[in-house]
Amino acid sequence: MLPEEQDKDMSLPESGAKVPFEDFIVRDLSQAAYKAVHNSYSPYSGFAVGAAVLSGEGCIYTGTNIENSSFGLTICAERAAIAAAVTAGERVIRGIAVYTPTDEPTVPCGACLATIAEFRDPGFMEGDIPILLAGRYKERWTSLKALLPEVFKLNPKEKQ
Ligand code: THU
Repeated sequence: MLPEEQDKDMSLPESGAKVPFEDFIVRDLSQAAYKAVHNSYSPYSGFAVGAAVLSGEGCIYTGTNIENSSFGLTICAERAAIAAAVTAGERVIRGIAVYTPTDEPTVPCGACLATIAEFRDPGFMEGDIPILLAGRYKERWTSLKALLPEVFKLNPKEKQ
């Protein structure tokens, strides 16, 4: 890919905030998502997804999609990664990378976005979470707020 194309693809979250991570963290996160895709259990769709979340404690947790013959029981990669983080005692997500071995990057489904939103930190990037979408040849930054501007709240008076 030409450098100018790469610049275009690596656009920052639409919130306008600069990605608040060191380059090595971004690399680790996207490599972790890439590694996780190899464990995908997706015999029904043949669509493999790998995800990696950066936790509040600065750890990386990975997940992959796990399908079931009863299709609705399928677990997405993003939610599997979040389950791993929460199981380890984490309650905050600061970033997430999603890798699919497709030409174009894949956008997380609505259920995953709502799950990601549950663990946002109001004190970090105003509750936004940078999301790196990576495909085989392209990757781009987006963010939770760009993909899910409004979130379901049990109490509508809640601030975010
Ligand atoms: N999938 C994910 O892992 N994450 C998403 O955000 C959307 C879809 C998986 C579920 C299923 O195994 C396959 O992709 C095709 O829908």
